[in-house]
Amino acid sequence: MKKDFVSIADQTPEEIQSILDLSIRLKKEWKSGGNPPLLQKKVMGMIFQKPSLRTRVSFDMAMRHLGGDALYLSPNEIGLGQRESVADVARVLAGYVDVIMARVFAHEHILELARWADVPVVNGLSDYDHPCQAMADAMTIQEEFGNLKGLNITFVGDGNNVATSLLQIVAKLGGNFTIATPAGYEIKPAAIQQAQSFAKVSGSQLNFIQDPHAAVKGAKVIYTDTWTSMGQEAETQERLKVFPPYQVNSQLVAEADADAIVMHCLPAHRGQELTDEVADGSHSRIFPQAHNRLHAQKGILVRVFGKG
Ligand code: CP
Ligand code: NVA
Repeated sequence: MKKDFVSIADQTPEEIQSILDLSIRLKKEWKSGGNPPLLQKKVMGMIFQKPSLRTRVSFDMAMRHLGGDALYLSPNEIGLGQRESVADVARVLAGYVDVIMARVFAHEHILELARWADVPVVNGLSDYDHPCQAMADAMTIQEEFGNLKGLNITFVGDGNNVATSLLQIVAKLGGNFTIATPAGYEIKPAAIQQAQSFAKVSGSQLNFIQDPHAAVKGAKVIYTDTWTSMGQEAETQERLKVFPPYQVNSQLVAEADADAIVMHCLPAHRGQELTDEVADGSHSRIFPQAHNRLHAQKGILVRVFGKG
């Protein structure tokens, strides 16, 4: 059976940990000379309905590092679900490439691609989640602290796609997850409920609150993301009124553990969810985190092809 990578929720804790360990190994190997061509002759088709820097370049380079190649398909070219149905795109593209990665608006489209394509489908961000980001996030946290078990990881801001995947991975791996969101901007109730079932198995503690100050108390990781995600542009002004108390600035970082690291999936809106001082300060890990996308995705791809 083909192996998709659609959501963190679909993976077992063992699978996640094994991909993380593999990704760290592949990173070390790359730094000391290069990776073996594990994906030689494999080509990835990359469907983008939204802009991207990290996802596009890191997936392309991940394929190249492993001896494969990647094709970029822009929003205008494919017209996913508009020029052609998602099911037809999936079936046609699957005859040309060996794996499909897609960044979409509606999560349903990722599920539909996975259903119709007879090659693996990797979720490169949807309006629901961002699992490849969460793998790079967990990898960054593991490199910093050894593992996630018992670690206090706090998200401050919008309960969005990035927050949802972070919640899932922390709950799968036994970390403690706290999120402070304004009322009305919480993570979707079904995702919370599902994460609570993961937490029962892993021993995670999960807290869903509104006060950013209470949320960062004792935190080893403070994570934030944009207040307005791609596709929500019409709400920008409204959100700009609600979110300022959730800015990750030096005062808020000073309320966390002294060794706390600050993370952001990027792109950052400096002066909004994250100040320059914090983004460029000693607690920040935003660039190593972005670079880890490359290695985390190598790990994901190698496993999707059943290698490594
Ligand atoms: N973090 C992230 O996915 O960045 P891009 O939108 O640039 O791909
Ligand atoms: N939450 C953001 C993440 C961008 C990588 C968005 O969906 O726009």
